[in-house]
Amino acid sequence: MRFQFPTWLGLICVCGLFACQNTEVDLINGPQQMMLDAPDYFPANIPMPADNPLTEEGVQLGRMLFYEKKLSADGSISCGSCHQQQNAFSDGNQFSFGVNNTQGDMNSMALSNLHWQTKFFWNGRASTLEAQAIVPIEDVREMNLPIAEAVNRLQADARYPSLFESAFGTDAITPGLIGKALAQFERTLISANSKFDAWIRNEVELTPEEKLGLELFFTHPDPKLQLRGGNCSDCHIGFLIAGDPNGFSGFHNNGLDAEEKLSSGLMNVTANPFDQGKFKAPSLRNIALTGPYMHDGRFQSLEEVLDHYNDHIQNSTTLDVLILEASNEVPDGSDAVKLHLSDEEKKAIVAFLHTLTDQDFITNSKFSNPFN
Ligand code: HEC
Ligand code: HEC
Repeated sequence: MRFQFPTWLGLICVCGLFACQNTEVDLINGPQQMMLDAPDYFPANIPMPADNPLTEEGVQLGRMLFYEKKLSADGSISCGSCHQQQNAFSDGNQFSFGVNNTQGDMNSMALSNLHWQTKFFWNGRASTLEAQAIVPIEDVREMNLPIAEAVNRLQADARYPSLFESAFGTDAITPGLIGKALAQFERTLISANSKFDAWIRNEVELTPEEKLGLELFFTHPDPKLQLRGGNCSDCHIGFLIAGDPNGFSGFHNNGLDAEEKLSSGLMNVTANPFDQGKFKAPSLRNIALTGPYMHDGRFQSLEEVLDHYNDHIQNSTTLDVLILEASNEVPDGSDAVKLHLSDEEKKAIVAFLHTLTDQDFITNSKFSNPFN
């Protein structure tokens, strides 16, 4: 029997609403309007920003800017250096290297299905893709280029003024338009052709192990009902397998550190002490390709991640109750927070996570470096 999805399936299957509905583009003279190419089982409740409709020209320009090394101080790196397509747009390092090999203290985030997210960065400090895109250009540990200088360089380039003209109707380049073009390209980075997607579309069967992993992933355990679960979809939700797109409610403390070692995380943005140690629950799509894992890249493998959730949860005042209260065994009165999955069950969840790998996404030529 096929595994039954819980009620969120119904909630997110409100189809028929198109993401681009509020856009107005002059189809005769202006840029060519584009629709997001997403499956109908993705959420349909997030509109395209009215002031940045998706267009062929805007996406093309955004793709060039994403791979444009002129946007870094010494011309050595682009967005694509730390967000590499073959790694589902992460970079494979614990911490990313910026210009002059300066190392940051955060793990590069994989980029996919960004249209359905509403807070960006591990601590959620950007609320739009348009705003986010300017930050790494100026960040001293990343591209380290004042945005005014970025504008000057593009304005002086032989190609860019006319490309901005085609995309936005003006050849006067501004930081805002750079952000808009980058955001448009990033919205097209849709990953929806993994084995998991093929299974949703009834095109393939999962192996028994993958199926067990899927059931555990999507089940909150309850030992009294003999319901075994890994608890994962309490935070990595729905078909996007991501924190819910509802602002900061997708941010959690998943037990990485004890009280005295908690990093500030979301607290940096909200100034609320109760947000200490909370980070964005990222999408797990293509997760087998995006290690090392967590905001500080502390885990090398998915097996280590499962060991963490099963046996090494660190208790603290902000530890998420969804973790605190989840176990496959009736509590024995000790303080230890343990999920009590068997080795076989942990392996099954890892097998399920591998079904989220999307080869089309990492080889799609529309997302690759146009300068190669
Ligand atoms: C030096 C490496 C580096 C470069 C260059 C870089 N990034 Fe990033 N990117 C990161 C890291 C690290 C994070 C997480 C940082 C944090 O949370 O503080 C990140 C986060 C992001 C996110 C947030 C994703 C999410 O799910 O919240 C987006 C979007 C993004 N980068 C886009 C870009 C764009 C666009 C550019 C080019 C203008 C760029 N990045 C350049 C390393 C880099
Ligand atoms: C209480 C919410 C919550 C639960 C439950 C939860 N996660 Fe997470 N998960 C998070 C958060 C938050 C992060 C990011 C934490 C950080 O980096 O500080 C994360 C990160 C991860 C990462 C690393 C992602 C990356 O890009 O580096 C993986 C893999 C992961 N979780 C898998 C799982 C699995 C498998 C389960 C079930 C066994 C699970 N999670 C249960 C909230 C949760």
